[in-house]
Amino acid sequence: MRADLNVPLEDGRVADDTRIRAALPTLRLLLDRGASEVVVCSHLGRPKGEDPALAIAPVEQRLRELLPDPRVRVLENTRFDPGETRNDPAFAARLAAGRNLYVNDAFGSAHRAHASTEAVAHLLPTYAGLLLERELVELSRLVESPERPYVAVVGGAKVEDKIGVLRRLAGLADALLVGGKMAAELAAQAPLDGGAEVLLPTDVVAAAAFEPDAESRVVAADAVPDGWLGLDIGPETRRVFAERIAGARTVVWNGPMGVFEWPRFAEGTRAVAEAVAASDGFTVVGGGDSVRALEELGLAERIDWVSTGGGASLELLEGRELPGVAAIPPA
Ligand code: 3PG
Repeated sequence: MRADLNVPLEDGRVADDTRIRAALPTLRLLLDRGASEVVVCSHLGRPKGEDPALAIAPVEQRLRELLPDPRVRVLENTRFDPGETRNDPAFAARLAAGRNLYVNDAFGSAHRAHASTEAVAHLLPTYAGLLLERELVELSRLVESPERPYVAVVGGAKVEDKIGVLRRLAGLADALLVGGKMAAELAAQAPLDGGAEVLLPTDVVAAAAFEPDAESRVVAADAVPDGWLGLDIGPETRRVFAERIAGARTVVWNGPMGVFEWPRFAEGTRAVAEAVAASDGFTVVGGGDSVRALEELGLAERIDWVSTGGGASLELLEGRELPGVAAIPPA
């Protein structure tokens, strides 16, 4: 079984075990159905060669605490083998050797054509795991006849990484609310084609420096003083975004509205998180930072679907084929 156990580590321990817990239902199913052994593999981080700091041991330890079944065996970080990212059939053959079935439950890695997510699927009878299947079902509701009004909230940095999904969402959603560093970058770009009304921040919390306790004040979005930085959306924008979210029947949110790790610039992300949690429409949140913000605010339980995939969920929304999914034959 391929799972996505690519979790954050801190001081050699698992800092957030969400992805490990998300893999348990499929593992339990395989064990309950009489598997004599379940060999689980995953990548961890982006090691260059065999980096001891990225050994799978802490992940394995947490998995064993959650599921102490001696029939579960955990392989070392798949990316320690150079064949993994090359989608090398020889590495895939070693993963498949002596095994009867391949189950792919690694939705978060499904956008990667790697040996453990793609090549191995051609060597054994292959099935989707419960998590991967559920992710596809829930995320497809954002693309196939979503209930309207449909509001997409996108934030974070690096507009280049998300421009594809923004374009697609502009054609799917009724309103696209853009915050974070992305908003400033987008404002400078050509407008998005598509039917959605695009709402950019009208006010921002501007800071004199990129520091947690920098001097700051609320200013109009187009009046940030020279040399200052917009580090959060302002109160007027928060109110408008929250109102739009409250009126929606479908909401998808990816990416924070500001530097939410610093309390003074966390209000915009908090306002969006609270509005999404309070919605009685269908709500989906994806992407590591927004999910972390929800967890920290204790609001994750109130979201209909918290995706375990960051890049994978964006590529799916963008309409791209996920190689890990494409390799699974239809049931
Ligand atoms: C993720 O964390 O998004 C997945 O585990 C994929 O990791 P990658 O971007 O290193 O391939």
